[in-house]
Amino acid sequence: MSFDLVFFGGTGDLTWRKLMPALFQAWRHGKLPTHGRILAVARDERTDASYRQWLQDKLASGDDLAKRPTEDEFERFAALVHYLCMDLSRPGDYSSLRQWLAARQADTVVMYLATSPHLFPIICEQLGAAGLNHPGVRVVLEKPLGHDLASAQAINRAVGAVFSERQALRIDHYLGKPSVQNLMALRFGNVLFEPLWRRESIANIQITLAESLGVGTRGDFYDRTGALRDMIQNHALQLLTMVAMEPPSSADADAIRDEKLKVLRSLKPFDAASVARDVVRGQYRAGTVGGVSVPGYLDEAKVPPGSSTETFVALRCEIQNWRWAGVPFYLRTGKRLARRHAEIVVNFRPTPHSIFPGAQSPNQLVIKLQPDDGLQLHLLAAKGALGPDPAAGHQAEHLSPVSLDLDFDKAFPTDRVGAYERMLLDALAGRLNLFVRSDEQEQAWRWVEPILEAWRHDASGLKTYSAGTWGPAAASALVARDGFAWAEES
Ligand code: BG6
Repeated sequence: MSFDLVFFGGTGDLTWRKLMPALFQAWRHGKLPTHGRILAVARDERTDASYRQWLQDKLASGDDLAKRPTEDEFERFAALVHYLCMDLSRPGDYSSLRQWLAARQADTVVMYLATSPHLFPIICEQLGAAGLNHPGVRVVLEKPLGHDLASAQAINRAVGAVFSERQALRIDHYLGKPSVQNLMALRFGNVLFEPLWRRESIANIQITLAESLGVGTRGDFYDRTGALRDMIQNHALQLLTMVAMEPPSSADADAIRDEKLKVLRSLKPFDAASVARDVVRGQYRAGTVGGVSVPGYLDEAKVPPGSSTETFVALRCEIQNWRWAGVPFYLRTGKRLARRHAEIVVNFRPTPHSIFPGAQSPNQLVIKLQPDDGLQLHLLAAKGALGPDPAAGHQAEHLSPVSLDLDFDKAFPTDRVGAYERMLLDALAGRLNLFVRSDEQEQAWRWVEPILEAWRHDASGLKTYSAGTWGPAAASALVARDGFAWAEES
């Protein structure tokens, strides 16, 4: 299959931090289809050679030494990379793009919009006007897709006027994380968990997306966005749909997305009272992360004085259907938390009647997303050593916690691909399963809007937390109220 992959925003952070490194890895692993060209599009005047040099410098500064290209590798990879200077608001510039693409007539053309979303409508309109929306073209839309329901709908309308739903790929890179694939495999490729995956056996489910980093150089963007829009509306809710969906009738993208949409539609809506009760928002103050002193949010570059933007959210929600009625789902995310740590924890109910002495922790399944990636099943086992049982007055079998650990990096050391690598390969192949459909995305906005609305009317609820902790104490109280605790507290 021949392809042309065009990155709008070709000199932007996302392109050099995530997309190009992911493409390079795909190429290095021999997964990138042959006969491909990669075109970076941006405003500055550059040549292919100067762009390649710039990119080489960027890739050489990557944190992970093993992922940096050697000179020879970069030279071979760079032969695929080209550059085109475009002013995205100028129709004439799209004819240059059309000419560049026409020189080869690739089977597939993927336009990756790694720009600010306010440019999405104009880019799509101009691509349509230039005839670059034929069925061989797909467009990938990076988040944030709007800042509320109305703006997301406006973007979707503009994109939908030019591209069909199957041509428009909304990316949520969390769905590309290997553990999320394994969540699907665990639930729908094995019989073991399905009978237990319901209210009768599960006490609560926790989704934590914790970051140790602060807002870095993105203070202005982040301050307009906040943790709810940045992480909950998309990543956390998408993970929630993967955990809670009914088994789809096939692996077809729409069969999966229909089921995910049903979950979003079944989420209990918030009102002002439930927002005050069930949603905690916080902002970090100075503290210590990993032994290093870090400033508070209000002292970060480009953050306006006195900002009340939340850098932490924890919330309790419920899914109103037969499978999940009454089971609390706790979602939590934050910047400058104790460590980088993302996981889904399924807490099972205790046994209905215990025949063993001592307190017994209920079973727990942990789906670890990062930094490690794997599954852990916590069970109770007998050590085979008897201990005193004061209640019965004799020696009795005591149970001890043990865990079954599946480390995917060890189990599949060579074949694994990272989240962006996976999403880019899927976009090229037209596999839509992991991309978010417009109705899912809009429903997610519909659900978070009452929270935004309640916060607009009441700025008083913002709590503070010290950098390097797990967030405001109110987040622990939220879970404790139901008689539970966050995984790291139990
Ligand atoms: C992005 C958010 O979508 O996800 C960032 O905009 C966040 O604020 C990032 O840091 C986290 O992604 P990952 O894959 O590093 O956990």
